Amino acid sequence: MGILFAYSVNMKAIIPVAGAGTKLRPITYTQPKPLIPVAGKPIIAFILDELIRAGVHEFVFVIGYLGEKIKTYLDANYQHIEKNYVIQGEREGLGHAIYSCREFIADSDQVVIQLGDSVIDIDFQVFLNSKYSTLGVSKVHDPRRFGVVELNEKSFVKKLIEKPQIPISNLAIVGLYFIKEFKCLYNALDFNIKNGLKTRGEYHLTDGLMKMVEDGSRIEIMEVKNWFDCGQKENLLETNAIMLDRNFDSSSSIDIPGSIIIPPVSIGKNCQITHSIIGPNVTIGDDAKVDNAILKDAIIGNFTILEDIVLQHSIIGSDAIVKGRYQSYNIGDNTEIDMV
Ligand code: G1P
Repeated sequence: MGILFAYSVNMKAIIPVAGAGTKLRPITYTQPKPLIPVAGKPIIAFILDELIRAGVHEFVFVIGYLGEKIKTYLDANYQHIEKNYVIQGEREGLGHAIYSCREFIADSDQVVIQLGDSVIDIDFQVFLNSKYSTLGVSKVHDPRRFGVVELNEKSFVKKLIEKPQIPISNLAIVGLYFIKEFKCLYNALDFNIKNGLKTRGEYHLTDGLMKMVEDGSRIEIMEVKNWFDCGQKENLLETNAIMLDRNFDSSSSIDIPGSIIIPPVSIGKNCQITHSIIGPNVTIGDDAKVDNAILKDAIIGNFTILEDIVLQHSIIGSDAIVKGRYQSYNIGDNTEIDMV
């Protein structure tokens, strides 16, 4: 049935997943950020599934921090796509990471780059058929944390600045890039790297794109419908809730005798759930044991044990054990207690 492989010849995807995910510690001490589960599957799976659905099936992954875990996951779960791995030894910035992929990308290749921690809603068929190189952007309140784009009167990119102190616009680069001809980006990055042109110590992709514009390339923007930047706890839990809601199918509700399930939730294989209230917005990994617990807005890892506990707005890793206890009070009449 109708999957259209429109880009079988020269469309390649680069997925940079080398980062240490410091804002998601302690989870990222042992798990690379792209493998953190959201709504029942790792973040990177949302990205790959979308690109594969759009017809991309040649991928270059830039790995570094806990890269072997990412490779093991991809090799086991994505056997049907072509995968190449580039190891980013020194962390010299996103521009450098993309530059390191050159042995796998031909000059004339079209390339889609998507950062491994951003789940993006956009019409990929339209995006990947753009006439010019195109950046996914979103209007944000505080552009200082992002690469920022300024347009000229014809709506082409005029200027790009990485994390400007004084923003030139509110259009932030979301981490999705379509490059019409890899050689243009490669030459720009090559120039910046050979001339040591770093910004705050790194070779930024944003600076490479700026050089492309200076060299005469036309770059457009496309506003994304939704952008789920999974780099921080709050965003991760919000993404979990939204994705669970999207995948929720009321006809296949989960029924666990003796427990109450409030959808949407995702519960992995071989879990033992007893005397608990789960949901809404809870993802539980495989082989977890939950007894006497109330969970909402939470991501719980594989093989984790939770007992006698009330949790919300929480991320608990794999193989963790969290045991709470019931409170005991002696409270008189006309008392008000609010434990916020
Ligand atoms: C990177 C890019 C930045 C972009 C952002 C999107 O920054 O350098 O231009 O706006 O991703 O998330 P980082 O988040 O790696 O600091």
